[in-house]
Amino acid sequence: MNFPKNFLWGGASSAFQVEGASTLNKGRTVADMRSDLAKERLGIASTDVASDFYHHYKEDIQLMKECGLKAFRMSISWARIFNDASGSANLEGIQFYHDVFDELLANDIQPIVTLYHFDLPLWTVEKYNGFVSRECIDDFMKYCKLCFEEYGSKVKYWLTINEQSVITMIPAFQGLDNLKDCWQSYHHMNLANALVNKMYHEMNLGGMIGPAISYTTVYPASPDPKDIMIAWHSDDIHVFSLTDVAVYGKYPKYFINELEKNGYMFEMQDGDDAILTDPLAKPDYFGLNWYCTSVIGHYIGEDMFGEYKGPDLPRQERAVKGEYQYYKNPYTPYSEYNWNCDGIGLRYAMRKMYQMYHLPIIITENGWSANETVGEDGCIHDQERIHYLEENIQGMSDAINDGVELIGYTPWSFIDLLSASQGMDKRYGLVFVDRTNDDLKELKRIPKDSFYYYQKIIKENS
Ligand code: BG6
Repeated sequence: MNFPKNFLWGGASSAFQVEGASTLNKGRTVADMRSDLAKERLGIASTDVASDFYHHYKEDIQLMKECGLKAFRMSISWARIFNDASGSANLEGIQFYHDVFDELLANDIQPIVTLYHFDLPLWTVEKYNGFVSRECIDDFMKYCKLCFEEYGSKVKYWLTINEQSVITMIPAFQGLDNLKDCWQSYHHMNLANALVNKMYHEMNLGGMIGPAISYTTVYPASPDPKDIMIAWHSDDIHVFSLTDVAVYGKYPKYFINELEKNGYMFEMQDGDDAILTDPLAKPDYFGLNWYCTSVIGHYIGEDMFGEYKGPDLPRQERAVKGEYQYYKNPYTPYSEYNWNCDGIGLRYAMRKMYQMYHLPIIITENGWSANETVGEDGCIHDQERIHYLEENIQGMSDAINDGVELIGYTPWSFIDLLSASQGMDKRYGLVFVDRTNDDLKELKRIPKDSFYYYQKIIKENS
């Protein structure tokens, strides 16, 4: 099937994972701190150099052009714009993103820009504990306002916060140490999303804004109604409670029940409801970060491998005690990092999301990770990634045929970058970056086989 005319075939990245230059014209971020700790503990690469996009962006954009990209998802590092708590903006940082956007546009590539992708400025944590405090909402708005004023004529697709549900579940991603604070921060991020959307809409810049949502389609492990209910509940808690607040401005009752049960209910103030339900606060589209599916069943006891047989599926040694446990899906192949390839799961997720909200979608992340090296012939034959792309592009095509309004696809990632959790070993790129965790070499860029596969897909738009 042909994809829609003007479909945004793209590639994705985020600032701390590609840019490097982590102390040049930039303040420290939570992502820098996390990566320094990981370097110390596990010896993996840090954000210092990453893929050095900061110095290689022109070369990388030429590769995007060669591949045929129509869009590039990237993020602005808030700490490059406001590198300290003084409140004055950093002109060199502002100029850097102007240069990147100009270069993209000169090559007919639309920037799709995330405002906050896992890299909260450390000064916000030191000053007031990040989004746990309402002060952070004001500072985020000030930063977003500056971005809209500076770049609003160049950037037509904005993403506010990347994977809010993920950074809520893992305190370290926000420089925090407990879940109670994370849930307070979650509410404040919802207010921030709503206020920033409203501000953007009032500025009439003619583009679109929305959040980047993490969605792992969850299948029930068996037809046992308990398994079906827990799979459904998990999707609701991890995905649809957040998208419901974004679109309708209301926290669903099942979600509040869950927070209260666990002692994580956050404080709300008078006026918050009005902020969340303001019609101008509604997103224009959803960015969907979608990689794989998982299989869960109800929790079957302390000993996961005990007497009770449960569903007839291979179990994973992973469970949420008392609630559910994970299984492997024997019908789908898994990567060495244990993420599977399941294009039907993507079709299902897109359809569900569209049926619920009727908003356009961009698949803002989707990718296959592997530990890769250059072969003796100087190439990287990433056949499994090609298979993954093929399956997922088929899933998107089917979803479009089902009626879903899909406007773009930015697979993760265009070039190899620093994994959010596993350094340079876990590679996602269509372009290889020749460096290891401890040897920078020359950071040479080498298109992998998947680059040429994707180039063909884009050319044929099919
Ligand atoms: C998404 C993030 O959750 O998953 C990316 O938005 C991240 O930043 C990607 O890189 C893959 O996760 P990881 O840990 O394999 O890098």
